[in-house]
Order: sequence, then C-alpha cells, then structure tokens
Amino acid sequence: MFISRIRLKNFRNYDDLDIKLNDRLNIFVGNNAQGKTNILESIYLSGFGKSFRTNKDRDIIKMDKDMAYIKIEGQKRYGDISIEMRFWKNRKKEIKVNSLSLIKLSDILGNLNIVIFSPEDLKLIKEGPSERRKFVDREICQINKRYCHSLISYNRVLYQRNNLLKKIKYDRKLINTIDIWNEELVKFGTEVILKRREFINRISSLSRLMHRKITDGKENLEVKYLSNIGIKNKDGFNEIYKNFIEKIEKNIEKDIDRGFTGVGPHKDDLGLYVNNIDIRNFGSQGQQRTVALSLKLSELEIGKAEIGEYPILLLDDVMSELDINRQKFLMKSLKNVQTFITITEIPEIMIPLVQEGFIFEISKGKVKKR
Ligand SMILES: Nc1ncnc2c1ncn2[C@@H]1O[C@H](COP(=O)(O)OP(=O)(O)OP(=O)(O)O)[C@@H](O)[C@H]1O
Ligand SMILES: [Mg+2]
Repeated sequence: MFISRIRLKNFRNYDDLDIKLNDRLNIFVGNNAQGKTNILESIYLSGFGKSFRTNKDRDIIKMDKDMAYIKIEGQKRYGDISIEMRFWKNRKKEIKVNSLSLIKLSDILGNLNIVIFSPEDLKLIKEGPSERRKFVDREICQINKRYCHSLISYNRVLYQRNNLLKKIKYDRKLINTIDIWNEELVKFGTEVILKRREFINRISSLSRLMHRKITDGKENLEVKYLSNIGIKNKDGFNEIYKNFIEKIEKNIEKDIDRGFTGVGPHKDDLGLYVNNIDIRNFGSQGQQRTVALSLKLSELEIGKAEIGEYPILLLDDVMSELDINRQKFLMKSLKNVQTFITITEIPEIMIPLVQEGFIFEISKGKVKKR
C-alpha cells in the first residue's frame, strides 16, 4: 500500500498543504521545528485515529483556528483509499473512510497500516513493561480486530473486578459475587494471552534474523513472552484457562487486601536479550536502538504476511542516530516499502541511496519539492 497525496488545513504549523508523494521513498528535510514530524503525525493519525505525540486532539489544530482537516489518499492492493479527518475545538472529531463516516473510532484501524520508528521507541526497551505491552497490543490490533475487542473486554472486566475487590474488603459477603467476574476475566484474558504468544513467537524469529543482519552476525537477539500465569508454548485455550483461574482463585485474599488483581496479562512483559544479556537493563544505547529497529522491521514483515502487502513506514529522526553501516542496511531492506523519512540534512553517503525518491524541503510549514 502507499499514500499518493496529503492535504492539510490548519493542522499544526500548516495553513494549507497539498503534496503528491513518491510510492517508494519520501524524505522531508529541514531545520528543527519546521514541520517535518507534523507531516508524519498526520499520516499516523490517518492510520490510528490518534496521535503518537498527544492525547489532546485540540493540540493539533493550528493556533487561533477552530478546525483542522487532514485528507490522505492512497492505493491498496484492492483499490483506492481515502481518509478524511476533521478536528474541532469543542466537538468530537469526524472521520471518513472512502467518504463514509465512521461510527466507532476503532473502525479506523486496518485501513492504512503503519509502522513508525522514532527516537521515542527507545522507551520500548528502556521503560517499564507497560510500554512493551502497548507495543504488542498496538501491533496485534492493527492486524486482528477480534484481539482488540478481547483486550477491551478484558480491561473492562478487570476494572470491574478491581472495584469489587475494594468493596469486599469492607463488606465480606460480596465475595459470593466474584466468581462470575473471575470467569469473565479469565475467558477474555486467555484470548489475549493466546494472541500475544502467537505474535511474540513470530516477532521473535523475525527479529532474530533482522538483528543478525544489522549487526553483521555478531549479536543474537532473543525475544521472550514473560507472563505471570506460567504458560508453555504447547498450551491451548483450556490449559491456559485452567492455569489462570487456579492462580486467580489462589490469590484471592491477596487481591482483596491490595484492592487489585495481581495476576493476568495486564502484568505481561517482553523479555529482550542480546547474547543472553537482558538488554532492558544492561544494553548500551546503540544496542538498545538496534533492538528497537529489529523489532520494527519485523513488524513490516508481519504486516506483509497478514494483509498481503507491506505497511507504510515512518522513520522520524532515526537516520542520524544510526552508524553508516546500519543506515545502508536499513535503506536496502526497504526496497518494497513506502517509507517517509525526516532528517535535518541528507549526508553525502545517502545521496545515491535516495535517488529514486522525492525530497521535500520544509521551512516554517511550507513544503518545496527539490
Ligand atoms: N497547534 C499548533 N499550531 C501552530 N503551530 C504548531 C502547533 N503545534 C505545533 N506547532 C509548531 O510546529 C513546529 C514543530 O513541528 P515539528 O515537530 O514537525 O518540527 P520538526 O521539523 O520535526 O523539528 P525537529 O527537527 O526538531 O524534530 C513548531 O514550530 C511548533 O511550534
Ligand atoms: Mg521532528
């Protein structure tokens, strides 16, 4: 899939932008604070319905204006696609896919598949488990809507069960009502675990290959699913369900005491090891960045396998953080992927690699094709 045109009105620092794009490579060059990332943000918004930089929709509306407009046109394997979004200061945003209004925001997922890699992605490695869960969930949701529903249901039941736990502490007889919540929690939770395990197994073997290539065979990356339920690779729905419910029942007094549920996929983590060393705590900055890159490139392959075509890749400010060999490897491995790159300057060494693409110069919210 690829995007052929972007139109922006009153979006961030753009008044009115209309650009046609290259179906392979698009590079946005410019000094800091000129509007490079803003363009990537508009693409991301069209894929996910929300931004990677803010939860507040009104932030993206140009200062002193009342409405922002984004239109993305592109092509997928089975035909054209257009996504239009309107954001208002005091109203809910409106989204249209191929001119039809969406009723639920989550219905936007799966129309434009996007993989983004930015310096922020180091968080995925360095910060707590919730960043890694977010990564896994976002990726699976893009390719599997049912998973998204199971996850939303799981979180809803978890919230309700936690509320009940707090009440039981002061009114013991309410404990009779917890079984029904346990069963619901474990049912949705098992669905979540099964999908996460499948995804992590796939990303584990793909990212190991990627990582070998990027590091010239020197580093062996292992990605592991860490769950506090204790699941094995051969366990099916019934085994996981049984394990999970046993743990929930065993922990009931602890849960009541603390007022929240201690076991379940909401505590999952991703183990990341390079040559058997836990990279989350002991990796160098460069190693951590390379692991993040390997994970992201694997996402492209998973997207391709699932939907039959490569997702669109957004690379925000990452080129300058990689050494020359890694930059070259990256450019070579992106031959069939529409890629958007932001950069402050194109280094000499990259010029022969970017010749087929479009280069846009960005200054103060104005874009000029070079
Ligand atoms: N709602 C808004 N209205 C007007 N301008 C905005 C709004 N939000 C952000 N900006 C402006 O957009 C610019 C930042 O754009 P962007 O983040 O795309 O920069 P960039 O070119 O990627 O810079 P860098 O190289 O530093 O990453 C800033 O000048 C900022 O003030
Ligand atoms: Mg930027």
